[in-house]
This record gives sequence, C-alpha cells and structure tokens, in this order.
Amino acid sequence: MKKILIVILSVMMMITVAGCGKDKQATTSEESVKRVGILMPKKESPRWIKDGNNLKTELEKRGYKVDLRNADNDADTQRAQLQEMLATGTDIFIIAAVDSTSLSDILIEVKEKNIPVIAYDRLIMNSTAVTYYITFDNRGIGESYGRFVEKSLGLNDSANTFNIEIFSGSADDNNARVISEGLMGVLQPYIDNGQLKVPSGKIEFGDTTTHRWRKEEAQNRMNYLLHNVYNDGTKLDAVICASDGIANGVIRALDSHHVDSQPIITGQDGDIAAVKYILEGKQSMTLFKDTRLLANQCARTVEAIFNGDTIEVNDTSTYNNNIVVVPTYLCQPILVTKDNIKEVLVNSGYYTAEELGI
Ligand code: BGC
Repeated sequence: MKKILIVILSVMMMITVAGCGKDKQATTSEESVKRVGILMPKKESPRWIKDGNNLKTELEKRGYKVDLRNADNDADTQRAQLQEMLATGTDIFIIAAVDSTSLSDILIEVKEKNIPVIAYDRLIMNSTAVTYYITFDNRGIGESYGRFVEKSLGLNDSANTFNIEIFSGSADDNNARVISEGLMGVLQPYIDNGQLKVPSGKIEFGDTTTHRWRKEEAQNRMNYLLHNVYNDGTKLDAVICASDGIANGVIRALDSHHVDSQPIITGQDGDIAAVKYILEGKQSMTLFKDTRLLANQCARTVEAIFNGDTIEVNDTSTYNNNIVVVPTYLCQPILVTKDNIKEVLVNSGYYTAEELGI
C-alpha cells in the first residue's frame, strides 16, 4: 500500500513539474513575440482601412502581434492611442499621423525607450524619433497632376487660355505641401504667362488647402466658387483636386449646380467611388496607390529592423522633417483613366469587375 502511494505521489509531482515547465515555456515564447503598434489616421477614405488591414495581415503572417488603431481624423484621439500603446508596451510603431506635428512630445518618450518609428505614407515632422519613412512619391503625384492638365488642355501646343481651380490637401499634412510643390513646378509657368487663369484668385498653397482632406469642406468651397465666381457663365476648365475624397466633394457641388461642360478633375488613391466617377466621365483620372505594395514594403522593413538586417531605402535626401532627413522608401503610384481601369485595378485583383459594375 505504502509503495503504491509513493508511486502515485511521484507521478503527481512529475505532472506538476511538467505542467510548470509548460507554462513557463508558453510565457517565454509569448514574451518573445514582437508587438507592432499601427496608428492609422482616418476612417472616411477607404484607403486607410485597406492600409491598416493589409499591414495587419502582412505582419501577422510574419508572426508578430499587431495592435491596430484608427484615429478617425482626430489628432487628440491619435495622441491618446499612441500614449496607451506606449504604456502597454510596443516594440515598433507604424504611424500615419493625423497631424504631422502633434505627436512630437510623446515621440520624445518613444525615442528615449529606443522604440523605432516608421512614418507611414505621411512624414512626421519636427521629430528625431522617426527612423524610416515609407510612402508614395508625393512630388511625383503633384507633377503628374500638372502634366495631365498640361496635356489634356494642350497647353504646350497652343496659346489658348483656360480657367482652373486648385484644391490642395490638408495644411497639417506634409504630403499636401509636397504635392503642391510638384504641381506648381509644372503649372506655374502657364499661370505666369497667362495661359492658365485662376478666377478665384486662390493660387498659393495656404489659400487652397482642405482641412484634414475633408470632402465636405471641398464641396462647400466648390459650391461657394460656383455661386460667387462662376455665376456669370465663366467656364471652368479644370479642378486640380489633391485626392479622390476632395474630388468627390467637388463633383457633388458641380452635380448640384448642373454645370454643363465637364471640367478636368484629378485625384489620387483609386477609391472605389472615384473609379466609378471615372467610368461615368465625371472624374478624369486618379493616381492609384496600391496599399498592398506599401503595406508589404512596410512589413519587410519591420522584419529587417527586428532582425538587424539592412533596410531597403531609395531616397536619402528629399524628406527633411525640419530636424532630420529621414531615410525613405518611395513607391510609385499608377495613373488610371477610363482606358486602363480594368488592366490596373481589376486584373491586379484590387477590385472585382462586379464591384466596379463593369
Ligand atoms: C495621403 C493620400 C490621401 C490623403 C487623405 C494623404 O496623406 O497621401 O493618399 O488621399 O492623405 O486621406
């Protein structure tokens, strides 16, 4: 009997010891899983939802633990999200800032803790905490708008004059300024020689911005211009919109005023609503930013940082955030018009033909 009891007790002890070992192992491997904090800026435009989801998938595929937040265009919400993630513990941050300067003070703490920060799509200004920047070529986007307008209006081939309006992005987003610089690099000579007129008189970046890229604000401004500047029959030949969301607001205003002739309208992102407007002939083009590319590049960078590998960058001189030049990887957007929607957006699997109704 005594012998049996001893055997039972030793088996129980072995089980307990083995159990402890297992728990310990689980905790250790749980602890070694790297945590990635993703802060996205906006819910209104579909691209940021896709960006967030693509990033999450790419990072989880690589075995990382992801905390994904979206600040819904509110800078204070984003600050609170960053602070919370910092407190709970994160090994790297990927941030598309709502406001490019409002995170600077919290980022000082992030830097003190040696946590790398990847600025995603939007450069974070006035901070030394930004380790890398991954984005699309914003200057190139502005230049593409300019060249599209130049070509569509035949500015190079004749001395005809045209009326345009400019709707820039948000003043607190560095992308908006860089796009504007690219655009004006192409169009300023035509404004100077009088071939392009801007009847509203609003030409400078600071006079043409759209706060937080809100479509309602663009719609209101376009409505105002139609009531007060174009109410005498002045023909509007082009509206250079810095994003598909802004184009959406402008098109709504034009629709509600039943403007007869269709102006050239630009945009970027490849939002589904914009692609449908292009099919209808209400928007002329969009610069498709394949969020899968950006997410993939970002996930590869995260992996390289964690593994101590060489980081792939292709621009080490352009993106100065007022304090440091941030090593950058630039992706290229693709110009989409009615002619290549199927080829670029459907054949690549970004949208299905059914979604676009084609
Ligand atoms: C992005 C654009 C986007 C805009 C509004 C910019 O920072 O680069 O792709 O359309 O924000 O969401």
